[in-house]
Amino acid sequence: MHHLLNVDDLKPNDIEAIFNIAHYCHTGHGESFRVKNKIMATLFFEPSTRTKLSFQAAMYKLGGQVIDLPTESSQKKGESDADTVKTVAQYADVLVIRHPAEIMESLAAYSDKPVINAGEGHLEHPTQALIDLYTIRQYQSKKEKITIMFTGDCYYSRTIPSLLSLLRREPDKYRIIFTNEVAPWIEKEANMIFTDESKIKDNLPKVDVLYMTRTQKERWGKTPEKGTESDFVLTKDLTYTMKADAIIMHPLPRNEEIHPEVDQNYRAVYFQQVKNGLFVRMGLLYHLL
Ligand code: NCD
Repeated sequence: MHHLLNVDDLKPNDIEAIFNIAHYCHTGHGESFRVKNKIMATLFFEPSTRTKLSFQAAMYKLGGQVIDLPTESSQKKGESDADTVKTVAQYADVLVIRHPAEIMESLAAYSDKPVINAGEGHLEHPTQALIDLYTIRQYQSKKEKITIMFTGDCYYSRTIPSLLSLLRREPDKYRIIFTNEVAPWIEKEANMIFTDESKIKDNLPKVDVLYMTRTQKERWGKTPEKGTESDFVLTKDLTYTMKADAIIMHPLPRNEEIHPEVDQNYRAVYFQQVKNGLFVRMGLLYHLL
């Protein structure tokens, strides 16, 4: 693997290697994984809290150094994204880029150093997909078949398509539900992915993983007819209808779709996802460098 631009760049061996290192770091045995003298650059052309900070923290924990494209960069003088990437690639050993447009592949062409896609328009978010898969395995590895229901803005979320691409690799392992409420356009596929006409609430008792996302309002300007605003809000009372060992995931940030009182429920693992982000990104950086 040179760049990580989309989930297809991840071969099964890459994923196992990354998860292995992540597991060592997670369990406090990551001391031998070091990338001393390596520099990671973060270039975020779109807001971020978790992705940027966890990449930076991961690099520091591995003993590496971090540089960050300042908001007051030469882009303010009209420099193009391409020239910015070309410049930063002269200084850093790896570039972590987030961009609101679907142009990661063309940007990566300007870098002779590995580029990691940290979120690209509504197309891809491969590192979040890795974190999500790691989290699903952490909690549900004993199950032969895992039922996952996606809710929220299933059209504009970029974490859902990236995670789906990973899940599709194991069609016997996962059963995916989209309800027509939130994803009327998703087509049934080989008994793995299907739409259920009943409401999210009716499906809650069946799921092992409830994967929620926020409404991506900032992307609706382009093709507003395709976004979905689910009026589903997960409350404490609704969690009682879920299986005892079900988990509630969300890539965060959340808006109103998860009531804060749900955070106390042991099924809520979205802050564990946040934590896993650090370990998985340590695994990825070490593996790549
Ligand atoms: C997501 C993203 O940026 O796509 N957040 C994240 O990286 N953890 C989700 C979102 O913005 O809704």
